[in-house]
Amino acid sequence: MSEKRTIRIGLLGFGVVGQGVWKNIDKNRSALEYRLGAELAITQVVVKDASKAREVQVPAECYSDDPARVVDNPEIDIVCELMGGTGKALELTRRALQQGKIVVTANKALICEHGEELFEIARQNGGHYFFEASVAGGIPIIKTIREALVANRFKLIFGILNGTSNYILTRMEREGLSFDATLGDARKLGYVEADEALDLDGIDAAHKAVILAYLAHGKWVGLDQIICEGIRDITGEDIEIAGQLGYKIKLLAVIARDFEANQLSVRLHPALISKQEVIAGVDEVYNGVSVTGDVVGTTVLIGRGAGQDATSSSVISDIADAVFMLQGAPAPAISEEDEATYQKLADGLELAPQDQLAGRYYLRIHVKDEEGVLAKISDILAKEHISFATVNQKELEDGTAKLMVTTHKSNEAAIARAKAVLAAQSSVIGAPVSFRIFDPSKV
Ligand code: HSE
Repeated sequence: MSEKRTIRIGLLGFGVVGQGVWKNIDKNRSALEYRLGAELAITQVVVKDASKAREVQVPAECYSDDPARVVDNPEIDIVCELMGGTGKALELTRRALQQGKIVVTANKALICEHGEELFEIARQNGGHYFFEASVAGGIPIIKTIREALVANRFKLIFGILNGTSNYILTRMEREGLSFDATLGDARKLGYVEADEALDLDGIDAAHKAVILAYLAHGKWVGLDQIICEGIRDITGEDIEIAGQLGYKIKLLAVIARDFEANQLSVRLHPALISKQEVIAGVDEVYNGVSVTGDVVGTTVLIGRGAGQDATSSSVISDIADAVFMLQGAPAPAISEEDEATYQKLADGLELAPQDQLAGRYYLRIHVKDEEGVLAKISDILAKEHISFATVNQKELEDGTAKLMVTTHKSNEAAIARAKAVLAAQSSVIGAPVSFRIFDPSKV
């Protein structure tokens, strides 16, 4: 019997995900090595401080604070960049890929901001850059789009890509808690990123949407080119009224392609979505992605979008692909011809103008509870051809009222103009808030 090859892995970073990779490779080692036909050895673990107490015990000789022991080490077959960030991680990923190494990452911000350059370096130097864990944690959405659904062109991909904001919205809905109270609990549970804007302002999910848009359509879109709105403006009243109308409010990533106009819309924002939609039922810290392909129809994947085990499951799946590559299997889209074919997906593809985005809207307007206010609001909306579908009013103890309105079909530009005019009225208190109503069947 021939000896199994030993594949040597180096980890850059040994936080929650890095320790999960170590722990779960060890846990399922015999089945994994049987399936891969190779032995796995994590021989180098680069950390800032080896003396720090960690859940997983690693032999002292594996630890170092010198990334060169992974990146520039000819004995390392697979580099796992699990340090995060876009500073040192960029420099080290570049250096590893320039040497033709295979790099596995969970770093969505790095791919979103520098993916174009990094994939090109990988291609030119014969290495590879794997990134399954960067989007939706344990859900195999990258492989699903790239491999399992390769026969398709993707009219619509949408879903929930941030577990923390989904947890907050779920608790607000179920327990009638305020945003601030729920955020406090999410912080205590360690769910919120150190930079809270990533979760609360939609940036983390937007990074993931940009990656999915590239994968499905071959086009890199900048974060500054897309609508990116978080969950801070959502109140318990919005969730309650939406619920009465048959909707949930979810933070949705939407990647919609109009093949006739050859336009792509990538966006990330809260939206009212019918309770009948599978994605509306994805609650708590779960993520869910709905993929509509022209051949397969709609496929929905739901699972854990974050956390040690789910994310390390995806990292190990990339390690497995890397092992197959090292044993002679062809890499996905690695040759110049393959890459050129892939880029053709984006030939002539333009971003859809944001102000032309059309659909129904929900508006919350805080007003003085005076005679004629509703008529005035209705007049302002009518000037923008916005017609009411439903109107709810909630009287407050201070003599003011909140009007919650849903509209028939309108568009971004009309809603923005109407909100600006409304905000300038003496009878309107503060700025009106609007959320889009998302109906996947109308995309
Ligand atoms: N903060 C992210 C989330 C972690 O809540 O989904 C996974 O990317």
